[in-house]
Amino acid sequence: MNETPPWLWDLPLINLYNTDVVGFMYDVPFVATPEVVVRRMLQLAKVQPGEVVYDLGSGDGRVVIIAAKEFGARAVGVEIRKDLYEQSMTRIKDLGLSDKAVIINASLRTVYDTYQRPRPI
Ligand SMILES: C[S@@+](CC[C@H](N)C(=O)[O-])C[C@H]1O[C@@H](n2cnc3c(N)ncnc32)[C@H](O)[C@@H]1O
Repeated sequence: MNETPPWLWDLPLINLYNTDVVGFMYDVPFVATPEVVVRRMLQLAKVQPGEVVYDLGSGDGRVVIIAAKEFGARAVGVEIRKDLYEQSMTRIKDLGLSDKAVIINASLRTVYDTYQRPRPI
């Protein structure tokens, strides 16, 4: 079986199917997961109170909100679109979930680069 060549991971990812206005910035467009499906996903993951749930590309924040509100999780979303970030943060505040849920307005790639990539000592 062919192995993925290492240089492939260095190429910028550009999603030509994206329909957003500045589509080249986004990896995927906003398509909301039905709430019934979100609940089932969180049930299947056996999310417990106090556990941390991340949604990379959090859209209108529904995964983060349901994880915090109905499963008692601490939930973090990362959303590149400012309008969706603002919409989800407003909803989080209105629902009184600010102590458990937050959305970061950034590209998940930036967050990955900032927080996850091993640094030389
Ligand atoms: C298919 S939607 C999923 C939304 C939500 N997770 C849900 O299940 O309803 C993907 C989301 O990822 C966001 N997105 C796309 N590229 C991103 C990136 N590089 N960093 C952060 N968010 C991104 C889009 O703006 C969109 O809101």
